[in-house]
Amino acid sequence: MQGIIPLINKIQEALATTSGRYEIELPQLVVVGSQSCGKSSVLESIVGKDFLPRGTGIVTRRPLVLQLYNIATPKEYAFFGHLEKEFTSFTDIKEEILRETSRVCGDNKGVSTDPIFLKIYSNNVINLTLVDLPGITKNPVGDQPKDIEKQINNLVFDFISRENTIILAVSPANADLANSDSLKMARKVDPKGERTFGIITKVDLMDEGTDALELLQGEIYPLKLGYIGVVCRSQKGINDGKSISESIKEEEKFFKTHPVYHKLSHNLGIRALSAKLNTLLIRHIKRTLPQIRDKITTIMTHKRQELDALGADLDFEGPKGAKSVMLNIISKYTTTFNNYIDGDFVKQS
Ligand code: GDP
Ligand code: NA
Ligand code: MG
Repeated sequence: MQGIIPLINKIQEALATTSGRYEIELPQLVVVGSQSCGKSSVLESIVGKDFLPRGTGIVTRRPLVLQLYNIATPKEYAFFGHLEKEFTSFTDIKEEILRETSRVCGDNKGVSTDPIFLKIYSNNVINLTLVDLPGITKNPVGDQPKDIEKQINNLVFDFISRENTIILAVSPANADLANSDSLKMARKVDPKGERTFGIITKVDLMDEGTDALELLQGEIYPLKLGYIGVVCRSQKGINDGKSISESIKEEEKFFKTHPVYHKLSHNLGIRALSAKLNTLLIRHIKRTLPQIRDKITTIMTHKRQELDALGADLDFEGPKGAKSVMLNIISKYTTTFNNYIDGDFVKQS
């Protein structure tokens, strides 16, 4: 079953090259939440690498479609959709995301709905497709248009209203869940909660004497797929150069030694989150696979008909076959061209 996710990723990539002419909605995980609730931090922790621009204010300004591939070799590398270059340094990846964001959105907090595609190959990741989105925000700053709230809402809805999306609704533990933007938006597109999964960030920042127990157990805002609580790096941790692996170790210690949380280990931590996400994705893919197969069959039939119309020999295995396809196309083109020159084309039409 594990093999399904790389296959889905491949289809997604092939379709991306047809510049949106064939829309097949493939399953993916999308993070949603208010600005600075920890979306990029969560994604980064799942990947286990420091590579996503993040921080206070609006940092993520274009959707980032992130495909993770598990490979057997220890070498880690990455490719962007907009560049030929292979990346082996995660610092360089972060810089390229920033550069590519500025190129399209300018330098003064503008946003764009145009996604950046990034593939990461590593033996330290599980096979997942993740989408990082700009945060939900109310008031325009910098070069942001007056209707920034509407623009970001539309962008978020565009991703999460697709039936094939598993919504990762991120809410910080130190704010009232009743006001959670992500849960409100998710409920609009997924009222039964069949594809909404709750992530509670900043569990370490709760007021002393309070805890997220009821919240994590779904007693405040029930979600069919449940919640997982996490602790990611604080801004101070990032500034002090704390690594993600250190942060995950500290997170484990935080939960294990906590008087309330130590009983809840399956609902806690980045590791539990990654495992849960893989299971959700596989279940989702299994459910949507028949639809995807039907659509691909339709596209293939259509393409075969187009080739037939060009008089192509469909058996184009090997150089000989390819050549005959080309010859057929060229001769067909030449005939049409000659007819046009001779005036036949004009007469015909
Ligand atoms: P985004 O805007 O939703 O993508 O949020 P970011 O991932 O950029 O995080 C915003 C800020 O919150 C950053 O300064 C992070 O260091 C901090 N942060 C994120 N998660 C946690 C957490 O679990 N605990 C603490 N203390 N800080 C966090
Ligand atoms: Na932020
Ligand atoms: Mg972000």
